[in-house]
Amino acid sequence: MTFCGLDFGTSNSTIGVLKNNAHTMVPLERDPANDWQTTLPSALFFGFEDDQVSFGRKAIGRYTSGEAGRLLRSMKSLLGSSFMDDSTQVKNRFYKFDEIIGFFISSLRRQAEAFVQPDTTALESVVIGRPVYFNDTDPALDRAAEEHLAAIARIAGFKNVSFQFEPMAAALDYERQVVAEEVALIIDIGGGTSDFTLIRLSPDRHRNADRKSDFLANHGIHLGGTDFDRRLSVAGIMPEFGYGMPLKDRPGLNMPGHYYFDLATWHKIHLLYDRRVLMELEDFRPMVSDKNKLDQLIALLAHRRGHQLASFVEQAKIDLSNNSEALVDLKLLFKDIETRTSINNCTLNEHQLQQSLRFDIDRIFTTLDETLKMAGLTRKSIDTVFTTGGSTALPMIQARIESAFPAARRVAGDLYNSVGSGLLMEAELRYR
Ligand SMILES: Nc1ncnc2c1ncn2[C@@H]1O[C@H](COP(=O)(O)OP(=O)(O)OP(=O)(O)O)[C@@H](O)[C@H]1O
Ligand SMILES: [Mg+2]
Repeated sequence: MTFCGLDFGTSNSTIGVLKNNAHTMVPLERDPANDWQTTLPSALFFGFEDDQVSFGRKAIGRYTSGEAGRLLRSMKSLLGSSFMDDSTQVKNRFYKFDEIIGFFISSLRRQAEAFVQPDTTALESVVIGRPVYFNDTDPALDRAAEEHLAAIARIAGFKNVSFQFEPMAAALDYERQVVAEEVALIIDIGGGTSDFTLIRLSPDRHRNADRKSDFLANHGIHLGGTDFDRRLSVAGIMPEFGYGMPLKDRPGLNMPGHYYFDLATWHKIHLLYDRRVLMELEDFRPMVSDKNKLDQLIALLAHRRGHQLASFVEQAKIDLSNNSEALVDLKLLFKDIETRTSINNCTLNEHQLQQSLRFDIDRIFTTLDETLKMAGLTRKSIDTVFTTGGSTALPMIQARIESAFPAARRVAGDLYNSVGSGLLMEAELRYR
């Protein structure tokens, strides 16, 4: 039976297979430097001119080059949300979100199948990663999310579909390096969720299918890099577009915040491109204290540049990992758009990043302490802290881990491939 491990991430996806009997992460796409990468950004672009669908970096590239079409990202955030059963209009057709996620999963499966040839022709079984909670508060929505994803995977051609928690998969990946029994805390902070596993790891039990006696706790929270982007955007960029702007003759009232929160949230941006929203915003013209800012917002939405702005903010967040300042190039964003006003660039700094993320990071570390409590452990009982997920590159998060676990061994795993590679190991245990 042929099997694979599939990490469908909020921001990036990977797929692991056996090739020539070796565990291998499938090279999915070339990056701008033409090097093959094993990550495929979880993005789709529907081109309006050629009706072609693209995935990953190519999808983002077509969109940012200004080609007419629709870009979808962070689709995993819809699983477990109340939008899960909704449809979205792409050109003249309505697609269910399930269908769109299905296009993406099918494309990953096709690529993996092409890669494993001639060893095998069809990948029949898959272990898919899942966050500990698709939904933190509603178990019914959480179950429904897994059911949706399983149905999507079956439609994409997998006959056997099962799930493993993402941090548990990362634990299996890390365990390959473990030389003596230890208590490990696995921290996976990605684009959508922060997930934790506490587990006893050991080189002797590594290939055991049943690890119940080693398992100590799983926990998580629906908070990750896309939330950090939103916080940073609302605090540092949205004021440029009028967020917080007082309304004239209406003491104590400001421009309604929901436009700005949606504009800072990937999977809601498209809702603002509706003509009715633009008309509503026009109605605020006589009331606002700074018409330039409102004009800038209207121009941004009328030219559907919201996703591009969000990409710029995400890049600024990443740049702030290594620099004290980062530019959000609004002039570039507006370069081919006629506006009534001149556009000013915006610079974000480390301090703004720290201030805007402080609350979310506190919540993540509170969840981490809850995980320890669930297992009846203290911070001191942890031998090793293993980290994976793109957001663990944030210096603020690294500093918090360092100060919470000063005596523990720190192992920085592969930011993007650890979960997928552990899922493949799990698939081998279950389906070989
Ligand atoms: N240097 C960096 N500093 C801060 N954030 C970073 C950095 N590099 C990547 N990220 C963030 O990491 C996130 C993506 O991480 P990853 O690919 O692990 O997520 P994912 O697996 O797709 O999401 P999830 O597991 O939550 O579904 C993005 O939000 C990205 O902005
Ligand atoms: Mg992940």
